[in-house]
Amino acid sequence: MLIRYKKSFEKIAMGLLSFMPDEKDVRKLTHTIKEYETNPDWQLFLWKEEELLGAIGVRIDDENKVVIQHITVNPSYRNQGVGKKMIDAIYTQYSQDYVICANENTEGFVKKCNEVGL
Ligand SMILES: CC(C)(COP(=O)(O)OP(=O)(O)OC[C@H]1O[C@@H](n2cnc3c(N)ncnc32)[C@H](O)[C@@H]1OP(=O)(O)O)[C@@H](O)C(=O)NCCC(=O)NCCS
Repeated sequence: MLIRYKKSFEKIAMGLLSFMPDEKDVRKLTHTIKEYETNPDWQLFLWKEEELLGAIGVRIDDENKVVIQHITVNPSYRNQGVGKKMIDAIYTQYSQDYVICANENTEGFVKKCNEVGL
C-alpha cells in the first residue's frame, strides 16, 4: 500500500532514497527530503507491507505532467515485484489527470516496467 510521506518517516525515507545513484551525497539527500517536505509539487510516498519496503517520489510539472524522480526498494526485498507495484500505484493515483513520465534517474526501471509489463 502506498502511503504519503510524513516527517516521522524521515529516517527511513532518507535511508531508502540513499539507494538512488544520484543521492549518495548527504547534502544532496538532505536537500531532496526538504524539498519533498516543503514543495507542494514534490510528493513522496512509501510502500508499506509488514514494514516500509520502498519509496517513490514524483514532481508535478506545470504542463500537467507527473515526473517519477525517485524509486527505491530495500535491497532485502528486491526482485519481488515491489518496484512494479509502486509504479502501478502511481499510475492509479495520477494517470487520470496527468501524463506520467520518468526522468534520467528512473527511466531504466520505468521503461522496463512499461516494456515487459512486469
Ligand atoms: C529499481 C528498483 C526500485 C526495482 O525494485 P524491485 O522491487 O526489485 O523491482 P521489481 O521486483 O518490480 O522488478 C524487478 C525487475 O526489474 C529489473 N530492474 C531492476 N533495476 C533496474 C534498472 N535500474 N533498470 C532496468 N531494470 C531494472 C530487474 O532486473 C528485474 O528484472 P527481471 O524480472 O527481468 O529479472 C530497485 O532495484 C532499487 O531500489 N534500485 C536502487 C535504486 C535505483 O537505482 N533506482 C532507479 C532505477 S532506474
